[in-house]
Amino acid sequence: MRLFKTIAGVRTQLQSSWEEKQNIALVPTMGALHSGHLSLIAHAVAENDLVIVSIFVNPLQFEPDSDLDRYPRQLEKDCQLCEEAGVDVVFAPTVEELYPSSLETMTQVIPPSQMTTQMCGKSRPNHFEGVATVVTKLFNIVQPTSAYFGEKDAQQLAIIRRLVIDLNFPIEIRSCPIVREASGLAYSSRNQYLTSEERQQAQALSQGLQASKLAFEQQQVRNATALMDILRQKISSPLDYVALVDPDTLQPLDQVERKGLLALASYVGKTRLIDNIILLDR
Ligand code: PAJ
Repeated sequence: MRLFKTIAGVRTQLQSSWEEKQNIALVPTMGALHSGHLSLIAHAVAENDLVIVSIFVNPLQFEPDSDLDRYPRQLEKDCQLCEEAGVDVVFAPTVEELYPSSLETMTQVIPPSQMTTQMCGKSRPNHFEGVATVVTKLFNIVQPTSAYFGEKDAQQLAIIRRLVIDLNFPIEIRSCPIVREASGLAYSSRNQYLTSEERQQAQALSQGLQASKLAFEQQQVRNATALMDILRQKISSPLDYVALVDPDTLQPLDQVERKGLLALASYVGKTRLIDNIILLDR
């Protein structure tokens, strides 16, 4: 496995893979790798000739006074995990390397506002513009044939799928299911912030989602308000939002006809956690 911190270095390494038209997979991450990231990597390794993992804590997607400074950084350990997982290349640029000009005045990618202003976008203004911009840059630098994203960040996934269509990236977006601890808690780099008491509280998030899914599947509850109420009843930590939307367009549903994305964000202590579940009529 090789580690590159410069764009020139990684592109020189990729040159022969591009020329040989190999299947190149990109797995974009912010590091502090856990089982969720490792499952994306495992899928990518199984399906491609070459796998490149990017590790970059992207300042453009953090709002002012958020956890940018305390976000966990552990490049050496991450490289070891990548090596063990069969990754070929880790690309871990510095902020100066990826953003040589001022963050305030640089060109940014603006996804449709209908997809970015509700759910997580409401409390995180500019977040998805930051995500779309860095992902576009990574796509242009690496020119992968496919890129892997987790269903954990369902809004991000929908926005990236739309980005690839609207901006004509010749890249296949592959999505991977949410990986959870035995307790049901979805793996997140931010779980590191939780005290043991908060961890207990955080488990209610997935339990609430499961309760709604059960009502959907076994009692045929289809009304969005009813499904969201079942979820709210299970959760004692303050909710930032609960939404039931179309998983592709992210537009709110009154009723789930065939498929719905039930998503939430909640503050457990000071930590904002997200989780979701797909409701699918079979
Ligand atoms: P990060 O939070 O590090 O997540 C990287 C990828 O791992 C995302 O696609 C995310 O959905 C996936 N992931 C995280 N936890 C997961 C879990 N428990 N199960 C399955 N997949 C999981 O998402 C980002 O970074 C950034 O926004 C990024 C796309 C890298 C742009 O900066």
